[in-house]
Amino acid sequence: MKIPEEKIEEVRSASDIIDVVSAYVRLKRRGKSYVGLCPFHQEKTPSFHVTPDKQMFYCFGCQEGGNIFTFLMKTEKVSFVEAVKTLANRAGIELPVTESNRTESTQHEQLFRANMIAARFYHNSLTQTSEGEYALEYFRKRGFTDETIKQFGLGYAPRGWQALINHAAEHGLDAEQLEKAGLAGKRDDGSMYDRFRGRAIFPILSTTGRVVAFAGRQLYDDDTLAKYINTPETPIYQKGKLLYGLSMTRDDIRKLEYAILVEGYTDLISMYQSGIKNVVATSGTALTEEQIRLLGRYAPAVVIVYDADSAGSAAALRGVELILEKGLDVKIAQLPEGEDPDSFVRNQGKEAFLDLIDDSTSFINFKASELQKQGLFTTPEGQTQAVRAIIETLAKIPDELKRNFYIKAIAERYDVYESTLHRELDSVLRKQHRRPRSFNEQRRTVAADDTSSEPAPNDKPANQIESFSSAERDILKLLLESDREVMEFIFSQVTPDELGNTAARSLFEKLFGLYRSSGVFDTSSLINNDDFSEFSSVIVQLLAERYEVSERWEELRGFEEFPINMQLAIDAVRTLKKWIIKQRIESVRKNMRETEKQGGDSIPLARDMQILQQELKLIDQHYASLSKKPM
Ligand code: CTP
Ligand code: MN
Repeated sequence: MKIPEEKIEEVRSASDIIDVVSAYVRLKRRGKSYVGLCPFHQEKTPSFHVTPDKQMFYCFGCQEGGNIFTFLMKTEKVSFVEAVKTLANRAGIELPVTESNRTESTQHEQLFRANMIAARFYHNSLTQTSEGEYALEYFRKRGFTDETIKQFGLGYAPRGWQALINHAAEHGLDAEQLEKAGLAGKRDDGSMYDRFRGRAIFPILSTTGRVVAFAGRQLYDDDTLAKYINTPETPIYQKGKLLYGLSMTRDDIRKLEYAILVEGYTDLISMYQSGIKNVVATSGTALTEEQIRLLGRYAPAVVIVYDADSAGSAAALRGVELILEKGLDVKIAQLPEGEDPDSFVRNQGKEAFLDLIDDSTSFINFKASELQKQGLFTTPEGQTQAVRAIIETLAKIPDELKRNFYIKAIAERYDVYESTLHRELDSVLRKQHRRPRSFNEQRRTVAADDTSSEPAPNDKPANQIESFSSAERDILKLLLESDREVMEFIFSQVTPDELGNTAARSLFEKLFGLYRSSGVFDTSSLINNDDFSEFSSVIVQLLAERYEVSERWEELRGFEEFPINMQLAIDAVRTLKKWIIKQRIESVRKNMRETEKQGGDSIPLARDMQILQQELKLIDQHYASLSKKPM
């Protein structure tokens, strides 16, 4: 089908690229453009830009770019014509229909069509035929209202072996096409049969709301196949890349800024019917990275609600680590024994469910209670082991500032030194060969699928950053990213010699020098400043790390009245000061041991020790009063 040029123009000008892209990418305004995480490659810091003025998008990470049509073609894997049609539909613009329409449709569109025809057939069989009454009764017994049945397009697949095949033929769709769509199977003798027979049908929709597959639940006792059977994977259905329900729930997820993750189709439907609509279901697969990335486009946080059995907990734990790895926040809500989300919301209602969500626990507490069940925490050794296990999970979080936040929480809860936890964390990170910041990883991924790639990144600067203490890292990052107030605060509090790491110290010195000679500096100019050439890679990494973090932190910690970067600066300076004292305490302690071993008088040393301990307390008090918040 050829769409006239002027129609294409009409569609283009009637559509807003920000609107369309927002359905796929969480965009934040930055100056004249919007930025977000690129949907075309995997990344942790946003390099995907959309400019409303030009109605264009471009990713600085993977170099994908184009206009509103190309965006849809790439994300939805549709033809140009199909992209124009979709947008025309949205804008209420009528396109001329021509004969060649059908022949030009791509293979994907044929699959979509087969699924659509099947969905209507199944729904019709449920609601309009006598054979479907049993299934309809089944759904009603499960508490689904007629409206819900309609909204979710639930259906019934008749028991005959060729019911769908015969119906599809009336629409000019042969069995071979059904087979390609995964809806029919072929016997050795070449004859064809319906895949779904005598089953309650749950259509599975793409994120944009097109039927791409089905799940069929067992209904009859003589049906000995699995409880659920699914469409096998097809070019339009990869189960690990989809989340059940998302096309209906994504607006609520975006609005509420978190998604509730459940396991089953019926869990999702019952919750939706009860009025809790920010839900998605994994449906028969273990949670995949792609699913998390997909969710991340809509919300920065996930609450997992899995069945209260041990399989559920194990699945939740695996999910937690994957979600943390992808940079999202995660909590776990625990159901009473023997319930799943479906039964719970039906028996207890929406409010009780929301209470459960309110009571959801951090991954630290969840993991701790799982370890407690295993009998750790009864001995000091067990506790050490448990804390180590929690640190292993913590290490999955790519964002360092967030990790530091949790370190503080763990230190408080288990009465362990933060420095001990940091050491533990560092050793886990080293073992995982993980750079503390993802920048290099990112470059490498991009380079791998881009033949015109830049030179391989040099490992050395990354290692340099890895050797900084976290306080040193935070202080330098904050200097580079913050405003005058933060800069002045840090320079008034910290002198170069307080930084122990040579590279960190010399960067700090340089920045301090620049500040003294010319006042508050502009970080972007440092990149081209010859004085800083040896640090350019470190600087870029420090910056790359932090893009969105501060805003998220604000949510996390809820310091409304107080600028978050100032809060972080106070924390970082406090940590640095305490770190220095703690090192001195360590050396005095060693000294004392030596002295005692040799029978000497350790009392003066003990007094030193007391003074140092006192100093630690004073530091805490001092910075706590600065931050106006109890620490
Ligand atoms: N599942 C599947 N294949 C199976 C069993 C389960 O794909 N043989 C998937 C389905 O997506 C199902 C989810 O795993 O929704 C959870 O399974 P389960 O808890 O057994 O089912 P429920 O969703 O609780 O379904 P029902 O309430 O109908 O028993
Ligand atoms: Mn169930």
